[in-house]
Amino acid sequence: MISGKKTTPTIIVIFGGSGDLSKRKLLPAFYNLYLDGWMPDVFAIIGLGLNEFDDAQYHQFVEDSLNEFSRKGKPDAAALQEFKSRLSYIPANMNEEITYTNLTNKVNELDKQWGLRADRLFYLSIAPRFVEVVAVNLHKQGLASNAATDRVVIEKPFGHNKETAIALNNLLTGLFQEQQLYRIDHYLGKETVQNILAFRFANALFEPLWNRNYIDYVQITVAEQVGVEERGSYYESAGALRDMVQNHLLQLLCMITMEPPVTFDAEEIRNRKADVMRAIKPIKPEEVSKYAVRGQYDAGWIEGKQVPGYREEPGVSPNSNAETYVAIKFHLDNWRWQGVPFYIRTGKRMPEKTSSITIQFHPIPHSSFPEHLYDSVTPNRLIINIQPQMDIRLRFTAKRQGLEMNLNPVEMVFDYDSCSTSTPEAYETLLLDALQGDATLFMRSDQVLIAWDVVTPILEAWESHNSIEFPNYSAGMWGPENAEALIARQGHTWASHTRK
Ligand code: BG6
Repeated sequence: MISGKKTTPTIIVIFGGSGDLSKRKLLPAFYNLYLDGWMPDVFAIIGLGLNEFDDAQYHQFVEDSLNEFSRKGKPDAAALQEFKSRLSYIPANMNEEITYTNLTNKVNELDKQWGLRADRLFYLSIAPRFVEVVAVNLHKQGLASNAATDRVVIEKPFGHNKETAIALNNLLTGLFQEQQLYRIDHYLGKETVQNILAFRFANALFEPLWNRNYIDYVQITVAEQVGVEERGSYYESAGALRDMVQNHLLQLLCMITMEPPVTFDAEEIRNRKADVMRAIKPIKPEEVSKYAVRGQYDAGWIEGKQVPGYREEPGVSPNSNAETYVAIKFHLDNWRWQGVPFYIRTGKRMPEKTSSITIQFHPIPHSSFPEHLYDSVTPNRLIINIQPQMDIRLRFTAKRQGLEMNLNPVEMVFDYDSCSTSTPEAYETLLLDALQGDATLFMRSDQVLIAWDVVTPILEAWESHNSIEFPNYSAGMWGPENAEALIARQGHTWASHTRK
């Protein structure tokens, strides 16, 4: 979120440089930053991975990745050539010492060529089981020894539970300074998610209403149309609670509920988020079924195409107990939010891909108009559409044009599509922040641990009792029926989608 370009020469090292995340997100993000003039004038990217590529083959891999995934489309030949000249590749087995000797030689060679010690950014885009060996070897070789200029970016999942997250934190903070560690949650880099802070804290209008006195309930939905794709074996030990709720959904909840920060400073913002996460009322083990619902998709239809059930996906056990859908009702124990339910839900194989936040205000205390004048009596509602639709909508009641007094709900819309500039991808924002040393949108160690505290009772309850209902929703449905019941108990319903 810092403005201005980084000027000091930088070496970027991607562990997992030929992996799926690099191909889909990281390489296109660096390329777009480069095209938009955000990369330092002097930089190099070194990819490390299992594939036996030489530099030319890696360049082809990069070109293919940009052709398919860059938001700016097929790259321009001259720019691509120039970008590729900054990239090199080292075939690497993360468990072998030679990998780190080769890397050190390459880094030293670049430093020598540039006549200085460049800043370093290490991106660990690797399976969790390799994080320790990579971190230990980076430390051993002194590759990230300058705490002020060398950074290590770590992808989720950050631990498998609280114990393993503590162990990972201890390991990393024993090898590096906390200020060097960038735990990434890509939801925080999304344009619409960052805008929640601007919307809440750069306007005087909403803050007086942003509390239990005016807000009836809040819903956060992150629905995906895709299934588990090729990630069955990872997902089997993760499930939606670990994969989405412990990180992305809780972070969205924090953005909506945090207190106003005094300054727009990384530590201040992260403190406010940690405060509010600590206020989430713990769910007692015996109450898990009252507050949380899990689901797993069965075969079904998505946009006219038949798709398999989760248990038939590659790498998935035919008796799997992994949840692909979660809905939870949270309460916050603090002055601002006491008594307000926060309903969150996420699932794969939903009818559409949509992420949105709905803030439902209380109904009017008394209607001056007789009921027959209303098409429907609808309380005010603010909808923050995160993706793929990107807008903020305020619903209010207005008079229908005409001689008669008829009242109907209307919407005032701020639509990002109407803005001229194209929206950067979340990874562009976050990689630039990491390059520039701005940790505001990254997770601090205590935030990760509190998030584990929040989900642990649910995780433990679900892991100790396999669901006898799975699979309990068909692909193409909005999750299991219980999820409707979870919120119907307080007379609420899930917000509907497909607005455009
Ligand atoms: C990832 C999860 O963190 O987020 C995936 O591991 C999920 O399972 C993805 O599909 C969703 O991200 P986005 O940006 O497409 O909403």
